This record gives sequence, structure tokens and C-alpha cells, in this order.
Amino acid sequence: MHTKYLSIYLDLGLLLTIVVPLLALLCWWWNEIWYVRAVKAKCLAFNTKVPPGHLGLPFFGETFLFLRFFNKIGRPDDFINSKKIKYGENVGVYRTHLYGSPSIIVCSPALCKLVLNSSDKFKQEWPTTEVLGSNSVITLQGPRHGLIKSFIVNYINRPDPLTRFLVQAQPSIVEALQLWAQKPKVTALPELQKVTLAYTMRYFSGIEAGTQVDKFKSLFEGCRRAITKRLKEELERRKQKSENNNKNGEEIESSDLMDGLMQMKDKEGRQLSEGEVLDNIVSSIHVGHASIAFVMTWSLYFLWKSPHVLQKLQEENMNMSWEKNGESLTYEDIMKLKYTNKVIEEIIRRANQSSFVFRKATDDIEFKGYMIPKGWSVMVWVRYLHNDPANFEDPLSFNPDRWDTRPAHGTYLPFGGGPRSCPGSTLVRLSLALFIHHLSIGYSWEVLNPDFKVNYFSHPLPSDGLEISLTKI
Ligand code: HEM
Ligand SMILES: *[C@@H]1O[C@H](CO)[C@@H](O)[C@H](O)[C@H]1NC(C)=O
Ligand SMILES: *[C@@H]1O[C@H](CO)[C@@H](O)[C@H](O)[C@H]1NC(C)=O
Ligand SMILES: *[C@@H]1O[C@H](CO)[C@@H](O)[C@H](O)[C@H]1NC(C)=O
Repeated sequence: MHTKYLSIYLDLGLLLTIVVPLLALLCWWWNEIWYVRAVKAKCLAFNTKVPPGHLGLPFFGETFLFLRFFNKIGRPDDFINSKKIKYGENVGVYRTHLYGSPSIIVCSPALCKLVLNSSDKFKQEWPTTEVLGSNSVITLQGPRHGLIKSFIVNYINRPDPLTRFLVQAQPSIVEALQLWAQKPKVTALPELQKVTLAYTMRYFSGIEAGTQVDKFKSLFEGCRRAITKRLKEELERRKQKSENNNKNGEEIESSDLMDGLMQMKDKEGRQLSEGEVLDNIVSSIHVGHASIAFVMTWSLYFLWKSPHVLQKLQEENMNMSWEKNGESLTYEDIMKLKYTNKVIEEIIRRANQSSFVFRKATDDIEFKGYMIPKGWSVMVWVRYLHNDPANFEDPLSFNPDRWDTRPAHGTYLPFGGGPRSCPGSTLVRLSLALFIHHLSIGYSWEVLNPDFKVNYFSHPLPSDGLEISLTKI
């Protein structure tokens, strides 16, 4: 009897003092042993190092910690700061394990640029193509990506389409502001999404949302199939029209992106497939309208918080408005608004809209003595660059005058860089210019709930959608 108890005690003791801690230790080091040991051996041969860090628990890695910094603590960049404290200030590259994959976090300007610029060594990888479509430039790879991407970039940045963009966007913005001023309270984010959806849809596909804008908004927030179906009707209509025109021997001139993509040909002289045209139109409207509305929402907040900036902005834009005598702003007019352009850049920097960009290393790559192992995920943490005091003095102050000097190379990458950089950056800047022009010359506004919580996924946004009240001045 006695000895039996004793042996249970002994077993329990053994379990608690040796087996459990051993298991915990194994758990803690499992990923490190599993993923890092082999890499370390290789590093030894090439005289490089694995970036410092820890891969965390088996399977989960540091994912919970990562999410805690976003959702609970509400300070995403402190995930990196905690690594800086542990492993050294000037490393700029750390190892971790997120979402089931060993990962390298990149936050030094030079390495960020290198990763973004080397699309052959760091491939873009989307976990799902469901929302974006498999033929969109966002998800395509290789030569097909290059072909369609350069067409879209050239299309957007030509003078004619830019003029058309301004002519089409301006009335939507002016009208929305007039309507808001008649209401006691407006939730900026969803209202702005309707405005930007109406004009990006008009611009990319020629479809007038009109009074149906709410319906379209829910279509875009819903599944891709439904919205693609609606755009396919438009495509069919145009095909029909162009056939009729061809019969009559008329040339149709290319006007919007949908026409452009329908007519473009690849090296072999073949036209794009219907799926390629539609996926690119759907994803451009989808990504475009949402992201423009996000930065516009933040512009309302930042300008309200900085009355002295708003005053200077107002002065410059009042002058322009007198000069134009009520006519629409042109591209040249906007380029003349020196202070306004600095404000726009500061809004884009402070809004943190692009948190990070994901890549996968297709080969072992060495950088400044560190090894980025083949097959690992690479996270280019762009928002960190924009909030690092080493790159931007007093980064949290909203200071447009900092743009009197250009930021150092690689420290400002809100639209990514290299072959996969954002084709929509001009449309974002022009949209902001129109919005803050008409806002500053015509209205004053209050942010009603300035202590709002910020939601960080998938983009930083005020959780209440930013409630404001707007008054005509
Ligand atoms: C504040 C607004 C915006 C921000 C911060 C932003 C940011 C970015 C970033 C960082 C990338 C690069 C992703 C990567 O390298 O993997 C990107 C790609 C892209 N953006 Fe934007 N963007 C914005 C607005 C727009 C707009 C208005 C459009 C509309 C045309 C657009 C369309 C795209 C497309 C199609 C890509 C994929 C390009 C490629 O993979 O080659 N974006 N954007
Ligand atoms: C980016 O890549 C191109 C072509 O590979 C190269 O010519 C250029 O120097 C690179 N730029 C940077 C900043 O690395
Ligand atoms: C606006 O115009 C006034 C009068 O012409 C001028 O004194 C002022 O400097 C101008 N302000 C800006 C910001 O251009
Ligand atoms: C952007 O990031 C910085 C640094 O993490 C943070 O302090 C700031 O609140 C963020 N801004 C927004 C609009 O989320």
C-alpha cells in the first residue's frame, strides 16, 4: 500500500519536475529546431547569420502575439519595437513564424527596397484569389502580369484619362459635401465609400451608379461573382456596339479602362480574355474605391486636429478658387497647389494604409550578412518605415512642412515599389486634392467622437466610421 502511494508520488513528481518542463522546452524550441537549425548550418558555410528572433510555438508561431499587438494593445508597430529591444536597434530584419509559415520581417529602408524591387527572387503570394479574381494584376505573376500591369499604369497616367478622372470625380465630391452639410450628423467612411465607388466605377467601367449606389456598394462588399456578373453585362453591351460599329465601318475610340483592356493585344496579337478584362476592372474598382475612401476619412480627422494646417490649406485653395472662378480644377491647377500637395503626402504617410506587403523568398538570399532562407515568407513592414523617428522626425506630428525636403531613399513606400508597385497612386493623390480643396474652401466641420477606437484589420480605420457634422461657411 505504502510503496504504491510512494511510487505514484514519485511518478507525479517526476512528471511535474522533469517531463512537463521538458515538453514545454521542446514546444518552445520546436520551431527553432525544425526550421532554423538547417538554415544555420547553411549559414555557417556561407559565413552569414539567420536574422535574430524566435519562431515561437509549433504551428502557431508568434501569431497570437502578433494579433495581440494589433487588436488588444492597439499598437501594431510595437511588435517590431519589442524585437528591437531584444535583438538590437539597427538590425532591421527579424525572424518569426506567422500564419503557419516561418517568416522574415523586413523594416530597414535598404532591404525593403531590395525585396520590393526583386520580384524574381521575392514572389508575391496571395492566400486567396477569391476576392480579387485569378486574372487580376494583383494576383497574376510573370510576363502576363507585366503585360497587363504596364497597360494599366500607362492608361491611368496619360493626360487624357487623368483629365477625365478629374472631370468625373469632381461633381460627385462637390455634391456629397453639399448633402452632408444639410444633415446634423454624417458617418464619413461609408458616405465617402459611396462617393468614391460612384466615380471609380464611372471612370473604369462607364457604369453610372446614380441612385443605385447603395446597391452597388453592397454588391462590392458581397461576393465577387455578383459584381462581375453586372460588369459582364456592360462588357457584352460594348461588344455588341463595337460589332455594329465595325459593320458600319466606324472606329470606336478607346475611352475608359474597360475599352482599353478589351482592345489591347499581347505580343502574339491576341486580345485579352473576357475573364482578364473583367477581373482587372472589378479589382481596380474594388481596391481603388475603398482605399481612396480610407485616406479621405483620415484627412477629415487630421485636418480637424490641426487648425493651423487647415488655415494655410484654406488660404491656398481660396486663392485658387478665386482664380478659377468656380470652374473645375485641372491637373495643372492641382500641381500648382504647393502646400496642398504637402498636406496630401502627410495624410498618406500618417494614415498607415499599407501596413505590410507579403512576399515569398524563392531562393536563399543574403543581405548585409543576413540570410533570408528559401521558401520563407517575407513581410515588408512599410508602415514602420513611416513612423520610425530615424526616417521622419517626430513621426506622430502632422507636419506637412516636413515635405519641403524629400525623404531619404527607401524610407517612404506607401505604394510599395518595383514591378508590383501600386498603379493607383496618382488617382489617390488627385482624389485627395479634390476632396480637401472643396472641403477647405466651403466648409467647417467637427469630429463628434474624437476618442474613437482604431480598428487595425485589415486597414487602420476609426471604429465608428468617423462621425462628423459639417457646416457651410
Ligand atoms: C491610399 C490608397 C492606396 C494605397 C496605400 C495602396 C497601396 C498599395 C501597395 C503598397 C501595393 C503593393 C502591393 C505589393 O507590392 O504586393 C498596391 C498594389 C496595387 N494597388 Fe494600390 N494602393 C492604394 C490605392 C489604389 C487605387 C486607387 C487603386 C486603383 C487602381 C489601386 C490598385 C492597386 C493594384 C491593381 C495593385 C496591384 C499591383 C501589382 O500587383 O502589380 N490601389 N497598392
Ligand atoms: C531595381 O531593379 C532594376 C532592374 O532589376 C535595377 O536596374 C535597379 O537599379 C534596382 N533599383 C534598386 C533601388 O535596387
Ligand atoms: C493668396 O493671395 C493673397 C492675395 O493675393 C496673397 O497675399 C497670399 O500670399 C496668397 N496665399 C497663398 C497661400 O498663396
Ligand atoms: C500609424 O502608426 C503609428 C505608429 O505605430 C501610430 O502611433 C499611429 O496612431 C498610426 N496612425 C493611424 C491613423 O493608425
